[in-house]
Amino acid sequence: MTGDVLVVAGAVLHRSRVLLAQRDYPAEVAGLWELPGGKVESGETPTQALIRELCEELDVRVSVGAPLADVVTPREGLKLVAHRARIVSGTPRAVEHRAIAWVDAQRLAELDRNSQIVPNDIGWIRELTAELQVR
Ligand code: CDP
Repeated sequence: MTGDVLVVAGAVLHRSRVLLAQRDYPAEVAGLWELPGGKVESGETPTQALIRELCEELDVRVSVGAPLADVVTPREGLKLVAHRARIVSGTPRAVEHRAIAWVDAQRLAELDRNSQIVPNDIGWIRELTAELQVR
């Protein structure tokens, strides 16, 4: 037991786009875009947590793939990992977010340049942008 909080986020990919979700709260990040996800609860694997979170947040069933290289540690006791994911059933909708959007490499880079990505997720953007460019 470390007491550390592990957050798992999903890079949901389809063709040459990734799904981003726009936060509605808290105020510091409201309006900014993130990879949807949430905390891994006790007894869950990160994969199970991501499946549950994307069901709750997007109302879809996903299969979970390989992690992105960057493990983000914004502060002591908090760690964020992101996994690639694919929708296996359902059509995503913004259950808990303000909006969702499928973005291509160009749009992703633009959101990053304009500081419209939540700070914790910025470390994943370069890898994702490069990956989308070759899909
Ligand atoms: O639903 P749950 O409370 O587990 O998750 P959340 O509130 O959506 O996310 C847990 C924490 O991880 C919050 O502090 C989020 O800001 C953070 N998070 C993040 O920084 N980047 C993401 N892509 C997802 C969550």
